[in-house]
Amino acid sequence: ASTLGAAAAQSGRYFGTAIAASRLGDSTYTTIAGREFNMVTAENEMKPDATEPQRGQFTFSAGDQIYNWATQRGMKVRGHTLAWHAQQPGWMQSLGGSSLRQAMIDHINGVMAHYKGKLAAWDVVNEAFNEDGSRRQSNLQGTGNDWIEVAFRTARNADPSAKLCYNDYNIENWSYGKTQGVYRMIQDFRSRGVPIDCVGLQTHFTGGSSLPSNFQTTLSSFAALGVDVALTEVDVTNASTTQYAGLTQACMNVPRCIGITVWGVRDSDSWRSSESPLLFDGGGNKKAAYTSVLNALNAA
Ligand code: G3I
Repeated sequence: ASTLGAAAAQSGRYFGTAIAASRLGDSTYTTIAGREFNMVTAENEMKPDATEPQRGQFTFSAGDQIYNWATQRGMKVRGHTLAWHAQQPGWMQSLGGSSLRQAMIDHINGVMAHYKGKLAAWDVVNEAFNEDGSRRQSNLQGTGNDWIEVAFRTARNADPSAKLCYNDYNIENWSYGKTQGVYRMIQDFRSRGVPIDCVGLQTHFTGGSSLPSNFQTTLSSFAALGVDVALTEVDVTNASTTQYAGLTQACMNVPRCIGITVWGVRDSDSWRSSESPLLFDGGGNKKAAYTSVLNALNAA
């Protein structure tokens, strides 16, 4: 196949990108995105600060713009994200204890009701762990260690059709503390019946030319817990072709690795634009990394 989405679809997978609503008027951007991808994540527009700027007042205009753009082109959409220490609206940042716990529950219910039955998956909880595998201190963590499972139980009730994911960065290296901390949480949730369907590995790779150690082992180990895995925010310093080919190959080698999403279209669209980490250059031209990914998808 000659596009990323079609090549991934040959093995039942998807290939996605993050979309920013502010760029939907740029025809170079929309031409590439519309041609190459079959899954979309809103880069910022479905986050808590965007969707509930005032308590109890939900706004979905930017999120819906992306949802409509994607689904009109036959793409699916991943929701990102419902409970996170960052990008909280101001009113939420100043809450704690039982009032924050209730606000989190109300937020999940409010946003998921709007998108009920429409999204392939939600990143229910984002980035809740420290590098050593302990829980990140945050106002959410301050509401009690059970906040993550409460978020997932609330989400399951709010929209039983959406796959519910835990999403984090630096959980690609199997021998890393954070990876093990997240693994133990998923294992615990699965053993106690806490609803969770998938783990998102953000896959923001920095430096080096090889993959983090045992990357494929990480994918297969999470999958062995009975959850899907996905690479949810891929970008790679200088778009190393070796790392892009390797991460794609690793996903193809793991049956429950259901898809790959790159975190933007062109280098100029990236939050790390100075590192040129994506598959298209600022002019919209395919980079060598694009070809390495496409070939790996086609070989699977
Ligand atoms: O929209 C405002 C604009 O009105 C204002 O003029 C401008 C001035 O600073 O800021 C704009 O908001 C920025 C927003 O991106 C949209 O461009 C925020 O400042 C900026 O903080 C925000 O950055 C986003 C970042 O998450 C925030 O945490 C990045 O675009 C986005 O790529 C990044 O994505 C995260 C994932 O959600 C989670 N994993 C890590 C990943 C990279 O940081």
